[in-house]
Amino acid sequence: MLQQTVSGRRSFLCLLLPAVLLLVGCGSSDEADTSPDQEAPPSGPSTQDPGADDEPVRELPALNNAVGFDVFREPHARLPVPELPSDTAGQMEFDAGLPEPVISMPAGFDADSNSAPFFRNLANLEVLAGDIVSIRFEPEDLDGSLPGMFPQKLPLGGTFEDNFDGSKTFVWQPLQEDVGILRFTVVAVDSEEPGLKASQDVLIRITLPDDPSTIPNVAPMLETLRDFTVRVNDPVVFELKGQDLNGTIPTLEVPLLPPGASFLQHPRLEEIYVLKLTPTVPGIYTLDVLVRDSVDPSLTATETVSFTVLDAGQFEGSGAPLKDLGQNRDLEIGFAALQSFYHQPDGAIYAAIAAREFNIVTPENSMKMNIINPLPGHFEFSGTDNLVRFAKLHDMRVHGHPLVWYRLLPEWIMQSDIADRERHMSDFIERIMGRYKDEIDVWDVVNEPIADNGELRQADSVWYEAMGESYIDKAMRQARLIAPSATLLINEFDISMAGPKFNGLIRLVERLQASNVPLDAIGFQMHLFSSYSSFEELRTNFATVAALGLDIYITELDVSISGEGSPSAAELQLQADVYRQIAQICIEQTRCKAIQMWGITDQYSFRSNFNPLPFDRAYQSKPAFKALQEALAK
Ligand code: XIL
Repeated sequence: MLQQTVSGRRSFLCLLLPAVLLLVGCGSSDEADTSPDQEAPPSGPSTQDPGADDEPVRELPALNNAVGFDVFREPHARLPVPELPSDTAGQMEFDAGLPEPVISMPAGFDADSNSAPFFRNLANLEVLAGDIVSIRFEPEDLDGSLPGMFPQKLPLGGTFEDNFDGSKTFVWQPLQEDVGILRFTVVAVDSEEPGLKASQDVLIRITLPDDPSTIPNVAPMLETLRDFTVRVNDPVVFELKGQDLNGTIPTLEVPLLPPGASFLQHPRLEEIYVLKLTPTVPGIYTLDVLVRDSVDPSLTATETVSFTVLDAGQFEGSGAPLKDLGQNRDLEIGFAALQSFYHQPDGAIYAAIAAREFNIVTPENSMKMNIINPLPGHFEFSGTDNLVRFAKLHDMRVHGHPLVWYRLLPEWIMQSDIADRERHMSDFIERIMGRYKDEIDVWDVVNEPIADNGELRQADSVWYEAMGESYIDKAMRQARLIAPSATLLINEFDISMAGPKFNGLIRLVERLQASNVPLDAIGFQMHLFSSYSSFEELRTNFATVAALGLDIYITELDVSISGEGSPSAAELQLQADVYRQIAQICIEQTRCKAIQMWGITDQYSFRSNFNPLPFDRAYQSKPAFKALQEALAK
């Protein structure tokens, strides 16, 4: 891969750009942009090969914090967004009047004993952008005292004020950005039975006034950055994004730029500015950013960005790296890489820990069809290419994921003719495996084919819909032809306990084996909770898979802690014990080849609220990390 694939087929992206509002000019570039040729756009979906204009180009180093490898980016200015159908469903709902409240009640609740609260005097509302919306919410309960209430979500700038008479008022000034239909939801809670609730939507339709210049021009803002911690002497990049409720794009300035820092407007994404600096002493840093309105330059806001810088020593895990401990046992230890981690402020420490601890990496998202092939005949390889380059630098294997999945598909596949789908599937496998076959030799060919009841997933799979269960056979056979020596997996979740789903998987495996369909291993995803305790069943399931002559990969391990806020020491210990036992079970089973975590740090986990990973948000190792070390070392 990574070499130029020349075909020069078509460059329709730039031609589509003018149709899309607020897109950056197509010709703008960082450095190595190629100018688009002028062929006509294809009519309707097709699946052309990637062309020379799909090849990523080198990105300015000032835009990322990659250490030791070059980051490439998409060659295009920006992906054209296909025009969205107008929101006719929303409009019909608005016209139908105030939606009925949704009542929820606790299990076993006796509906005769207590009636749900309700709201009086509400109606849908039609306003102009710039008007002040004011809606009074007055909950009542025919058989109880005053109900409590809370809004589900406040729009930016909105308030929900207490009138101290049992009612509250929602006040909000929608602006240009809000044009459309807003669903504002308030939940009333019964005063005697907190499980008895009425959720009431009010639909607010916001349109532009004839003369938009009558709308007040409000000060712009900075989009909030999450808190983060970095290591001293590592490069830090901030993608700072201005926001303006008037729908314009503010400019950003950093009045006191630290020495050695660079600050530039992103060459392709007009609303983003990239600040790059390297903090050389530990401490808490704050930086003022001036956000300037694009219509009235005298209208500004100053916002402060702050972050923590720690000594390098504070990130050095004690004890041997997981990958070394794994290697002694012929086990690979891996993680799923956050897409574009090198564009995150803390990307350098992320990469350093990845390189220290792991020897196999899965792209968390960059290879999914919606990302890598978002439009017919259009490919975005840069995310996976960059990861492959990073992996090579650190002697990591790359685990391809996923070739055929029913989720995270581009819209054009969802809407494709059933008759064309087999071709789309095989084109995709050919292009992705073909590009990376020299770098990637383990693949999740089919992801999540089994439904909870053990049957194949049917109604929700566009692939099943088109080919029946033969889509699995076809994908596996094709994968073997393209990469004869690669390890081919079926990857599945909720198979870590006995039950119909695991049984269904085994039935599928037996059928495939009886038809000589290639299959080398089963991926056990293992998105668990810290209450997980089916260890014996897991042992048995591993043994069943091993007895069928297949290897086992623990592909997506994470252990969620339920409950809000930071976990207690006891909860962290419980989590650690699950990690420990899983590692132990894998070690006992010679067919178990890899323990791969679905991420590194709680900061970027897809289940971030549940703190499921071995490193916390500041990249400090958790008891789970120690438990993995101990289990692997034993
Ligand atoms: C998840 C990613 O972690 C998320 O960032 C994304 O929004 C959705 O997909 N099973 C899989 C993974 O096979 O690809 C999923 O990854 C998690 C569940």
